[in-house]
Amino acid sequence: MEPEPSCFFQFLPFLIILFLSSLLLLYSIKLKRGLWCNCEICDAYLTLSWSKQFHNLCDWYSHLLKNSPGKTIHIHVLGNTITANPDNVEYILKTRFENFPKGKQFSMILGDFLGRGIFNVDGDLWRFQKKMASLELDRFSIRSYAFEIINHEINHRLVPLLSSAGGDRILDLQDIFRRFSFDTICRFSFGLDPECLKLSLPISEFAIAFDMASKLSAQRAMTASPLLWKIKRWLNIGSEKQLRESIRVVNVLAREVISQRRKMGLLSHEDLLSRFMISLNDETYLRDIVVSFILAGRDTVASALTSLFWLLPKYPDVAVAIREEAGRVLGPNQDITSFDKINELHYLQATIYESMRLYPPIQFDSKFCQADGTLPDGTVVKKGTRVTYHPYAMGRMEDIWGPDCLEFKPERWLRDGVFIPENPFKYPVFQAGSRMCLGKEMALVELKCVAVSLVRRFNIELATHYPMPRFSAGLTATFCGGLPVKVREGNPKS
Ligand code: HEM
Repeated sequence: MEPEPSCFFQFLPFLIILFLSSLLLLYSIKLKRGLWCNCEICDAYLTLSWSKQFHNLCDWYSHLLKNSPGKTIHIHVLGNTITANPDNVEYILKTRFENFPKGKQFSMILGDFLGRGIFNVDGDLWRFQKKMASLELDRFSIRSYAFEIINHEINHRLVPLLSSAGGDRILDLQDIFRRFSFDTICRFSFGLDPECLKLSLPISEFAIAFDMASKLSAQRAMTASPLLWKIKRWLNIGSEKQLRESIRVVNVLAREVISQRRKMGLLSHEDLLSRFMISLNDETYLRDIVVSFILAGRDTVASALTSLFWLLPKYPDVAVAIREEAGRVLGPNQDITSFDKINELHYLQATIYESMRLYPPIQFDSKFCQADGTLPDGTVVKKGTRVTYHPYAMGRMEDIWGPDCLEFKPERWLRDGVFIPENPFKYPVFQAGSRMCLGKEMALVELKCVAVSLVRRFNIELATHYPMPRFSAGLTATFCGGLPVKVREGNPKS
């Protein structure tokens, strides 16, 4: 019998590849950035020493930005300039919009997951998708259509589910909100109902794969050089192997959505996907559009609701004020029956804006500089620099919100009881300028309807107490460990 080759020889080719890749990596970093940076910030980033003092990377960045005179910092090893300065944000998102596209680097990082979907492209591809999506989302009738879907999902699924869970049973509200927003966005955008909000159904393989793909794609952006993940992808090992597998599962569902929609006939319903399908015959492109709209509508809304319901039990006066306003505007124990009535709930709107000020669903957003330039605060940005604006840090800036910036105070948005929006470059939670969120109005309707329905019907208590959330890596803010709560029916009615 032939002797088995020893482990060492079995892995030799792999070790050689790894060694050569490391050399290549170091060389490319040196070539690109001139030298390995060992400034205090880069050192803390690379050694993770920031985590001794801060729960989350975004908290550490907020601290650094707060203490920087121009509210702009540099993470040299990532080639990343990060800003919390509203003038810079306006310059990047509006004044010199063309000079700060998503860029090739960004498309590369998210390309395997998002493909040519709207979040990942510039130029004509972006303009085409924006035009198509706007035609759908800006229709006046879409508001009542969205309102109908959202309220059906609340009254026939969300409320009965929470009612049936009463007592001491602990529920993960984050998971429930993700199922809720997944059903809603699929019904709204694709005309299909996945019925995810049936707790009897286990979390679908798809949802797990989708979250994993989002998390691993976001992690690519945090590596010191793209070469690192590219080599892993080429070798199909570790996180890249996992990412490939997750994307395979996501693709199966996205293709199923397209095929179901086709079977139902494109002219029978007017939804976003049908609109795209009538104009496009490219399955991969349609897959990218499906994935992007799930990301846009599911994770952001669920994230906003999770942080709102984490804050409300800590601020019972806010919940009382929401109930009081709802009783006055809608009538005691009355559901929201018309879209117009929602616009009269100013305190509720202020609460939702305030919650997203402190906990924006998209904590930061990056662009890549096309040509050398200087930001309004005097920061020089070279071609190829990744430039990030940071809504999470901006919500914590005294210069923008005053000395009580860390307090949760819906009143800061009200003048004589009327909601007054803030300059979007100070509050870029929905982004601002040319690429502002296209689903903002729909998202607000969804958030307000869920918030008012649950606050009026239930007492929701946190089952686990911690001073601040810990977020897991991903494209949208997600609470590590979910949001465990106890739900009791029958609130003091107003
Ligand atoms: C609380 C909920 C939401 C928040 C905070 C939010 C925030 C954002 C942000 C920050 C962007 C810019 C992202 C980037 O450029 O990478 C964006 C873009 C976008 N959002 Fe939302 N979004 C929300 C809900 C929705 C919903 C429900 C939809 C769909 C119905 C939607 C559709 C879109 C689309 C299509 C874009 C791309 C716009 C473009 O690139 O021109 N969003 N959103």
